[in-house]
Amino acid sequence: MHDNIRTIRNTVLARIKPSPEERNKLAELARRIAGYIQDEGVSCELVGSAARKTWISGEHDLDLFLMFPTTLSREELKVDGLRIAKSVANRADSYEIRYAEHPYVHARFDGYRVDLVPCYRIESAKELKSAVDRTPFHNKYVLSKIGGLEDDVLLLKRFMKCADVYGSELRVHGFSGYLCELLIIHYGSFLEALAFACDWRDGLSIEPGVSTSYRDSNAGIAPGGVWEPLCMIDPTDPNRNVAAALSLDQFYTFVDAARGFLAEPSIEWFFAEPVPPVDKSEITGAIAARGTDLLAVVFEIPDMVEDIVYPQLYKMEQSVLSMLAEREFAVLGSAATVLPAGMTAENVVLLIELVSGELPALKKHIGPPVYMQNHAERFKAKFVAKDTFSGVYIEDGRYVVDIRRKYRLAKDLLESELSSCALGKQLRECVRAGCVVLERDEITDALDCEFLNRFLRK
Ligand code: UTP
Ligand code: MN
Ligand code: MN
Repeated sequence: MHDNIRTIRNTVLARIKPSPEERNKLAELARRIAGYIQDEGVSCELVGSAARKTWISGEHDLDLFLMFPTTLSREELKVDGLRIAKSVANRADSYEIRYAEHPYVHARFDGYRVDLVPCYRIESAKELKSAVDRTPFHNKYVLSKIGGLEDDVLLLKRFMKCADVYGSELRVHGFSGYLCELLIIHYGSFLEALAFACDWRDGLSIEPGVSTSYRDSNAGIAPGGVWEPLCMIDPTDPNRNVAAALSLDQFYTFVDAARGFLAEPSIEWFFAEPVPPVDKSEITGAIAARGTDLLAVVFEIPDMVEDIVYPQLYKMEQSVLSMLAEREFAVLGSAATVLPAGMTAENVVLLIELVSGELPALKKHIGPPVYMQNHAERFKAKFVAKDTFSGVYIEDGRYVVDIRRKYRLAKDLLESELSSCALGKQLRECVRAGCVVLERDEITDALDCEFLNRFLRK
């Protein structure tokens, strides 16, 4: 191995590998909470990175699964499981109920984040009744293969965190911890995984430890109609793609980072230099220099589960962008985020950059081809005696008429038509309750400078 890379590897590991004391403390806490669970008459399993020695120092997250017999109905599992998880969490510093497929409890014990997840104890992953039932099988599989490779998993996770591609949350659309582990198991080391990633193309399929292949462009469409850039076949359930949450751009962000690191290895690929803070006047200057028009749609939502807000927010972003495009506003870019607003509320921000936020009064309205006689007559009739800039004329074989545009300002369009965009259930209610469209100085006055800076620098 390249000397330089060996040094980087050791330096990074020294910072991210938990010390024996840290390990003991975590193990002790896991035993203590397992004891609380057993006191409730329920058995439990420690799963996730804490069980596999693949957790990064300082990131304290315990995943404890409460195992229930399959004789319980789903409803009983939901109710009893949650009741027992809550009673365990009564000893915690604090806790909240979160929702995946089933509700579970997210607690804090001594500053450690602890997930208490009720699931069914099943014999094989083929009998699974809900998505979380797979997790104990993941655990067994990873434990059987990961011995000796834990450090490589740590390096890959840290590398991915630094590149902002780690996490299967719907906000990130990146690589989950389990996916990192499977990549290391498949490629054998951190460096090999990166070396192969340099040549990845979307449509890649990996069966860990067995083979890699490429799907053709219509074979990798998930049920929702989304093209999956990577299919990592779950060794515990061949019908499942472990990388289902990974987006095309996050897939290629990782590819690009892998190439960058191998071309110029340095510790900065693991620990980014903090971005120097910017002030309002710098942001104002940077926006003015671009000569574009920025708009920000802002409204308040109650403190909600991230995995519920972000899918709705991204959907809203897409539908607002297509509305703008339909009305001939040229969109250069956009960003959507949730920023803290107060103790119980958060601000949703949808930032949009346009070539121009203002269009001329005249709109060229294209009609039917001249040869379609029926349509032609109707089209002409419609625009006769209307307040138009032109008569109906012929261009490129079609009827055309220059009419008055309904919305000259993108701001007006958003203010009037936002509610007709496809919005998720919760967001729709919040938009209705109050939504403002900010422009120019209002944006720099109201919004977080770091968020704006990230958008401008990308
Ligand atoms: P975690 O999100 O806690 O991940 O999920 P992790 O593997 O422990 O990694 P870090 O170090 O905390 O970031 C716990 C387990 O739940 C399953 C996996 O088996 C994972 O190990 N899981 C989680 C999934 O299968 N898919 C997901 O998207 C998330
Ligand atoms: Mn975890
Ligand atoms: Mn967790």
